[in-house]
Amino acid sequence: MSATQRTTVIRSSGSYLPPQVVTNEMLSRIMDTTDEWIVPRTGIRERRFVMPGVGPAEIAEHAARAALDAAGLTPADIGLVVFATMTPDHYFPGSGGLLAARLGMSTTPALDIRMQCAGFLSGLQTADAFIRSGAFDRVLLVGAEVHSGLMPWPESVWDVMLGRGDGPCDPYWYERASGMRDRAVLFGDGAGAMVLEANESGDGRGFLGFVMKTDGAHWDKLYVPGGGCKSRPYFTPAMFESLGTIPIVEGRQVFRLASQLMPEAVRDVLAKTGHRLEELDLLLMHQANLRINESVQKILGLPDSKVFNNIQKYGNTTAATLPLVYDEAVELGLAGPGSLVGFTALGAGLHWGAAIARL
Ligand code: UT7
Repeated sequence: MSATQRTTVIRSSGSYLPPQVVTNEMLSRIMDTTDEWIVPRTGIRERRFVMPGVGPAEIAEHAARAALDAAGLTPADIGLVVFATMTPDHYFPGSGGLLAARLGMSTTPALDIRMQCAGFLSGLQTADAFIRSGAFDRVLLVGAEVHSGLMPWPESVWDVMLGRGDGPCDPYWYERASGMRDRAVLFGDGAGAMVLEANESGDGRGFLGFVMKTDGAHWDKLYVPGGGCKSRPYFTPAMFESLGTIPIVEGRQVFRLASQLMPEAVRDVLAKTGHRLEELDLLLMHQANLRINESVQKILGLPDSKVFNNIQKYGNTTAATLPLVYDEAVELGLAGPGSLVGFTALGAGLHWGAAIARL
């Protein structure tokens, strides 16, 4: 069978959400914020955070094993591991190899993708290209994030937030945490995985097309100023003191760009694959802000039955978002064999795009 007749199907998916729930009220114990501010502007009611010492490779392992179990496969059945994260365990090496080692793989190649909220979408395109080329028959793609590592406050402040220690919060940290409240309330930890594999049956199932775009001129809309090799040395005490290791988010501009570029990408990928919007059964969007997704839904004119959001429970889980939202949507029966499903995301870079798949 020729490579052009080979498609990439999602064989299975798996999720891992750390058990520790952090509500908006819990955040308000350590910073000047309220549930009344957060919910109307973002839709987020709670998120999950890992315990200290838990990194993305560890939570990725849980999600990967869930996806493998769902497919009745073992790590030995995987040809390539692809890991997307913007919060890696270490500056280097990437978390892909760490995950592969955790899964007992000692020679399986592992590739890391650092495209932030668009990382999983790019991973889908990468896996699809490798599979259709015949290079690999089966790819384990994982998105995992531990954003809690970016929160600069000490464990005593975490204790106040989680109700393990007596309040009130140390005023010094209350002021510092309040200074990053526009970002601190948005993110959550989590991991999602998919097993992608070759389909040579010619039944029309699989990824039908991708549209991926980058505009690096917008790099400074969402980035971490401190902690890169443009600086010598690459970390300094002054970076920590000035909160330079905390991401900068030009929230309103990101909001505007996401609301405009995600619907465009969805329309582009539909046109490229010869499909009409009405044929789409479900659109799964990156979950950065419920209001962005409501705006995308409105621009595209999609009914509520054709979109699904779970940001309310998990916040923005960056590269983990698309597999988490997919896994939950399938679990809820919102999509299944034969469904035409769209995926779209926009993230720091800026990178954005859309994909379409027949499940
Ligand atoms: O995917 C990557 C990251 N995601 C995004 O960037 C999502 C896109 N952006 C957004 O969703 C919105 O821009 C935010 C939800 C992040 C922020 O909403 P906004 O309406 O753009 O708020 P703002 O940052 O312009 O702040 C408005 C006011 C400010 O007060 P003053 O200066 O007007 O008195 C902020 O200090 O709201 C204040 N504020 C908060 N108040 C309570 C900002 N964050 C908070 C907070 N709690 N958490």
